[in-house]
Amino acid sequence: MNKLMGLIGGVVMMVCNSGAVAIVPQPSEIKATGGTLELKAASVIAYADAAAKKPAEMLAVSLRPATGFKLPVKPGTQGTIVFRITDDAKLGSESYALRVTDHVIITAPTEKGLFYGAQTLRQLLPIEIFSSKKGSVKWMIPGVEIRDVPRFGWRGMHLDVGRHFFEVDDIKKFINLLSIHKLNTFHWHLTEDQGWRVEIKKYPKLTTVGAYRASTPPYGNRGGSDSKRYGGFYTQEEIRAIVAYATERHITIVPEIDMPGHMAAAVASYPKVGNTDIPNYNPKVETHWGVHPYILAPSEEAFEFVENVLAEICDLFPSKYIHIGGDEAPKGQWKKSKLAQEVIKREGLHNEHELQSYFIQRVEKILEKQGRSLIGWDEIREGGLSPQATVMSWRGVQGGIASAKEGHDVVMAPNSYTYFDHYQSDAKAELAKGAEFECIGGFLPIKKVYSFDPVLPGTLSDAEQKHVLGVQAQLWTEYMKTWDKVEYLAFPRMAALAEVAWTHPENKDFADFSARLEPMRNRYRALGLNAYDGELPKPPRSLDGTTIKSSMPYYGNHLVECAHDGKADTFFWSSRAPDKDDHITLSFDQPLVSPAKISISTGGEDAQSADRLENGRLEVSRDGKQWKRIALFKDGKAIGTASTGTKHIRVLATASHSKWVIVREISVEID
Ligand code: ACM
Repeated sequence: MNKLMGLIGGVVMMVCNSGAVAIVPQPSEIKATGGTLELKAASVIAYADAAAKKPAEMLAVSLRPATGFKLPVKPGTQGTIVFRITDDAKLGSESYALRVTDHVIITAPTEKGLFYGAQTLRQLLPIEIFSSKKGSVKWMIPGVEIRDVPRFGWRGMHLDVGRHFFEVDDIKKFINLLSIHKLNTFHWHLTEDQGWRVEIKKYPKLTTVGAYRASTPPYGNRGGSDSKRYGGFYTQEEIRAIVAYATERHITIVPEIDMPGHMAAAVASYPKVGNTDIPNYNPKVETHWGVHPYILAPSEEAFEFVENVLAEICDLFPSKYIHIGGDEAPKGQWKKSKLAQEVIKREGLHNEHELQSYFIQRVEKILEKQGRSLIGWDEIREGGLSPQATVMSWRGVQGGIASAKEGHDVVMAPNSYTYFDHYQSDAKAELAKGAEFECIGGFLPIKKVYSFDPVLPGTLSDAEQKHVLGVQAQLWTEYMKTWDKVEYLAFPRMAALAEVAWTHPENKDFADFSARLEPMRNRYRALGLNAYDGELPKPPRSLDGTTIKSSMPYYGNHLVECAHDGKADTFFWSSRAPDKDDHITLSFDQPLVSPAKISISTGGEDAQSADRLENGRLEVSRDGKQWKRIALFKDGKAIGTASTGTKHIRVLATASHSKWVIVREISVEID
């Protein structure tokens, strides 16, 4: 348990009428200061600086539906909630501080920091604040002091609108949800084999032709067809409105135009950008998932197309980075194409992988002319990485590690931890609910998402770790036909992602997160989200009427509570070998009223000698100060009798050990 949890516990006790303090992502520092503040219809929001006006106004608007209060937003320093810019920028442009006494003051070096402070304030209010219906609760805010600074600058969420298209309002809703989680990057995957979704004025057929496919496989029949024309796209006007909406919420949209592969819809619209010198180069907009052979030709015509498309993309999206995909580009067409082979020869390349590298380097130059930076999936490493490229590592973390070691910036997006199109609970149980619960495959429970550390400690040096810009989760939508399904797979895993991206490792704790997840799920309910509502892992608890502590840290989810939870299959597992005087101490709320037999078994079940406590004593105490030995450990076991009046039981290591220790169950049998 960390210090922060103790502080949060204090807050919970003092403000039980307004609910527990449960902020996601967990802030850097949070301290209970006592007292509460009630937000009322007469409350005033003030902004001390011009740059503080926008976050103040946005907060007022966000509080309106649930409270029904039309809180005035006024310049100055007098108010119930005061926003102020501070010139203390040393914590970075996304940091903020928030203090609740008889008023709330939110300070930050930037407007963005103030916006995050306002997000935290919303989570300090009762859960009902997230509802669009007027609530009748008292709008209490607990007295706290928070200082907060994110761990990573790239806190991303991806969404594929190529496989399935989602309405403008859904995209806006998604962006708003990202901002509630203090995510700051929306990677918008706009083009696919199965549909081109962004209007490009110079190439109207990309959307008149490329945005529509003849059919789609139904759930449960991957090779099948529903025989229904399907499609849609965003006009440039809609895109501009979405970009403006995101900018207000301090979200950068990184658009992706996936090339040279995943281009069937574009080649179907403008065959001349394909490999025209081979048979069957010219597809229809794809009607099945998977990787398809149609890739752009390395021709001057195709480069001109790319340049013109990217010019309009850069005009629409102000982001520093433009994502050019680069993944899953089969080289079969280039192998057969005379033109592609001539380019290989002309440029002194050795193979089609180097031709892809040449292709990406040309695209990098196009983006450089626009003042933008190239980011691509880790396949852009193949054949040589272009000089300034940033790599998004999706096929595990290896591409990210290799790139960071070579001095390239990377974003960690490994399929093993961040692909939210994988099942988040048992696939059989999900499919039993109906074919529409189908996922692409895999198994990515929230706990696994939470366990990811993007800098891979022990793998990258401190200098290399600095190249890890951050982390991103992916929503590929082959198996998300509806917006509801997107929500179902995105939430609550997005909460874990937010904590991986924002919260510093010393404040990350899965048991603590699990406790804060319940209120977060209630917020999702208040927001009307179709979040996955099934059972989530609960933090382990020791049996009622007891508390248990250890001087040793735990491994994985083997918390010390597992050593006295009445379950034979759970156990405490220390994440280091016990030293002399390390202990596990079980305390009863009330002293024993009759003697009890205490038995303890340590060590793994299979290999009986593994992770046993070899040198230890079983002790009892009435006051936690004076201890009496009742047994010694032998073969990893100890059995003794605790007399009436015993309040504490202690397992004490009497020598240093060389192996970690497993404590299966401390059993207390009253005579
Ligand atoms: C990917 O999943 N093809 C990036």
